Amino acid sequence: MLVEPGARITGHVAVPGDKSISHRSLLIGALSAGPTRVRGFGRGGDTESTIGAVRALGGFVDDADDRELVVHGADFRDAEIDCGNAGTLIRLLAGLLAGRNGTYVLTGDESLSSRPMERIAEPLRRMGAQIDTADGHAPLRIAPAQLRGIDYELPVASAQVKSALLLAGLGAQSPTTVVEPTPTRDHTELMLEAAGIRVRRRPASVTVEPGTPRLADVVVPGDISSAAPLLVAAALMPGSDLTIHDVGLNPRRTGLLAVLERMGARIAIFERRREGREPAGAVQVQFDELVATEVTAGEVPAMVDELPLVALLAAHARGKTRIRGAQELRVKETDRIEAVTDALRSIGARIRDHDDGWTITGVPARLRGGRVDARGDHRIAMLGAIAGLASRDGVQIEGAETAAISFPGFYELLDTVVQR
Ligand code: S3P
Repeated sequence: MLVEPGARITGHVAVPGDKSISHRSLLIGALSAGPTRVRGFGRGGDTESTIGAVRALGGFVDDADDRELVVHGADFRDAEIDCGNAGTLIRLLAGLLAGRNGTYVLTGDESLSSRPMERIAEPLRRMGAQIDTADGHAPLRIAPAQLRGIDYELPVASAQVKSALLLAGLGAQSPTTVVEPTPTRDHTELMLEAAGIRVRRRPASVTVEPGTPRLADVVVPGDISSAAPLLVAAALMPGSDLTIHDVGLNPRRTGLLAVLERMGARIAIFERRREGREPAGAVQVQFDELVATEVTAGEVPAMVDELPLVALLAAHARGKTRIRGAQELRVKETDRIEAVTDALRSIGARIRDHDDGWTITGVPARLRGGRVDARGDHRIAMLGAIAGLASRDGVQIEGAETAAISFPGFYELLDTVVQR
């Protein structure tokens, strides 16, 4: 797909429902006593895999209505489940299934099958789970087990690992505590609390008590990670003024907004409210001159999926930007440190990679443009599109269709806000 240069970004839009919260609504809905109604569910390749998983486990998912999805509890029969490209699904599901009575095999596509799974298998085994990996990777094989709660200190800041253990803890015989090196997204804790589970939250840890959730109703706010490419496009192009409505503003997800602000973009937040326990509102971004910044390890979890876009911003910001402490990007859908380095370099940016991030020397001018290989990674495809709009000659994206993993309709929505 060729993305031609644009002049600026203007308008008012909304983005699909949050992917992290959508996955959780179905999985916790599958565990729940009674039906769960989910409004604003974010449909995409990854969440379709979750619908398939819940159905394979004997759950009933009524997705006939575009606006509201209904889940009825699963019976957790034996199943082989294809998790597709979805890291959140395979890891949370492994936790959820580890203490059940069935035998399960969880598989994934080539990318998912290369991602590390011992990070969940090892602590789950400490809880008593019978779980095998294939040399640390999917397929995961899970056999019946009775779990006990543990206290576990996460070696890496990962909401997926934390959530896997909390979901396993629901079926354990005693409480489970997870200690985090840096706070990560807390959608699981918030949703379990809403579902009547006893959850104790402290700044650096969370404890869940065993129990059966009763979720009933969920309203999913727009996905800040899907809003991110649009917000960044507006921050890059002079004269832009874009507002995204009904987007999730959980403080553990909004690191990009803080970075945009300190790089010089003009950000306003209004229509603040809560959707259940999740903060939400509208975000407006207006262009202003961008300056370089520093991103350190403690900030990474709150913008982990947005870091490729921060690198693109940095390539257009006056001065030298350093992004460090982001080694987790090496084990995402692709090695995102390498993918971003190759992509930005091939369109004319000055970028140097490190084990855990990049140093980028920015110039407040359009990059030349060229070719970006998405490498089967939705976030890299969307990065290529925004880079193309802000470039001099446009960007050719190889594998652009992979954006539909998290954001079907991304290119069409983008077209509605670009002024050529
Ligand atoms: C997610 C957690 C993050 C994030 C992913 C979604 C979640 O992964 O990158 O896109 O929904 O819990 P890690 O837990 O591996 O950091």
